Amino acid sequence: MSIAHEETILIVDFGSQVTQLIARRVREAGVYSEIAPFNTAEEAFHRLKPKGVILSGSPAGVPEEGSPRAPDVIFESGLPILGICYGQQVMTHQLGGKVESGDGGQFGGEFGRAFIEISEECVLFDGLWKVGEKHQVWMSHGDKVTEFAPGFRIVATTEGAPFALIADDERRYYGTQFHPEVVHTPDGGKMIANFVRHVCGCAGDWTMAEFKAAKIKEIQDQVGDKKVICGLSGGVDSAVAAVLIHEAIGNQLTCVFVDHGLMRMGEADQVVSLFREHYKMPLVHRDVEEMFLSGLAGVTDPEKKRKFIGATFIDVFDQEAKAVGGADFLAQGTLYPDVIESVSFTGGPSVTIKSHHNVGGLPERMNMKLVEPLRELFKDEVRDLGRELGLPEIFVGRHPFPGPGLAIRIPGEVTKERCDILRKADAIYLEEIRNAGLYDAIWQAFAVLLPVKTVGVMGDSRTYDSVCGLRAVTSTDGMTADVYPFDASFLTRVSTRIVNEVKGINRVVYDYTSKPPGTIEWE
Ligand code: XMP
Repeated sequence: MSIAHEETILIVDFGSQVTQLIARRVREAGVYSEIAPFNTAEEAFHRLKPKGVILSGSPAGVPEEGSPRAPDVIFESGLPILGICYGQQVMTHQLGGKVESGDGGQFGGEFGRAFIEISEECVLFDGLWKVGEKHQVWMSHGDKVTEFAPGFRIVATTEGAPFALIADDERRYYGTQFHPEVVHTPDGGKMIANFVRHVCGCAGDWTMAEFKAAKIKEIQDQVGDKKVICGLSGGVDSAVAAVLIHEAIGNQLTCVFVDHGLMRMGEADQVVSLFREHYKMPLVHRDVEEMFLSGLAGVTDPEKKRKFIGATFIDVFDQEAKAVGGADFLAQGTLYPDVIESVSFTGGPSVTIKSHHNVGGLPERMNMKLVEPLRELFKDEVRDLGRELGLPEIFVGRHPFPGPGLAIRIPGEVTKERCDILRKADAIYLEEIRNAGLYDAIWQAFAVLLPVKTVGVMGDSRTYDSVCGLRAVTSTDGMTADVYPFDASFLTRVSTRIVNEVKGINRVVYDYTSKPPGTIEWE
């Protein structure tokens, strides 16, 4: 359960793919925010006592039967409201205006880049846009407002959306047909900042130090004098969660590191020395490489690998938790993007692309209560919190690493020998990236060992060895990603070093696929 902040913005989620970005923009404006699905928004409203409300977009259409509505309490509260896309439409509908399906139904709307023309002044444009100017925004809507509710005026229009931005200054209600939260609306973040600061009156002084102090208190209240157990993966999230909880409750926390042998070069040692020696935390280090590799023998299907690793991880963790002796709480480094699944107003499941092994599973099996102090944060905010907690930069700034480890970077069968080959290639690649000063500009970079052998020539001899793929992407949240455009001389240097220094690899290729259509990991 979250804490009540002095200044909170409540974001009502109608299931848009980009609701999390609204939360992010609000926090960038120095204001704390929380997302609540529309069907629990009333409870969240009473609990959080927000200074203002933002209504998100949605895959649904307001004219559709059964489509979601905002709780009335929000309109009765007298608080400022910003409705975005569906949020604008639902607000219009609930306040007495009209919304119609776009021409041609679902696909008759406006999608992509558009230019709005500012027709009247508005507090959302403070320091930003002036009457008569045109600015780029991002549209993605099928339906549109055709008649605004009483009290509103039009302040900006586009060709396709005459009600691109509407305002009712008296009630402090604003509605945008476009999406200010996405980067394709370049000034959108500032517009949201204007809403939370100038309309809602928030001071914008929310900081990570404040978050840390509040979280520590919350953890102490939740845990009392009970014991907590936390799984460390070597990644940033679990490390930050563990250090934060340790600061709150000291040695009531025990960390368990299930070392599946699928980590990168030197990583397991780093985890052990950081936590045991530097932080002096009780740490159980269980080396189960053999168990994982023997279970993975002969397994080539990516989902089977993931399922085996997830289940075996839980088995081992469970044993160790029991050995620690009756912990009441399980700590997890779960982040916002992991927990807030799109709200499906029809109740239908979303498609599973890959089974992520770190969410779910454990809590049900172990019958423990959860401590998840990061569940409101995005990755870069977790990094800021890690810095606030004094975690070394080399740890905090680390690229994300998937729970199933190298197993999903070795298409085909995973063996100790192939893990060792991959570890060497990956270490060279990352070393070169660091040397070139590029590490922090990249979201994730790693090598992949392909189950393909090709012919080469080294010296005067024929070689017949594996192909190594290199991947590097930029991303803000792992949901979408662009290929990092290394220059050719960098790739040549890495390729030469890998082929020369790693026995078993004689060819290197660079993966030039964005996400979508590719995923970041290969399996
Ligand atoms: P994909 O491959 O789905 O990856 O584009 C998106 C992000 O998620 C990471 N990833 C995982 N992280 N457990 C994790 O903790 C997993 O099972 C897992 N699978 C993928 C991936 O590294 C990327 O950052």
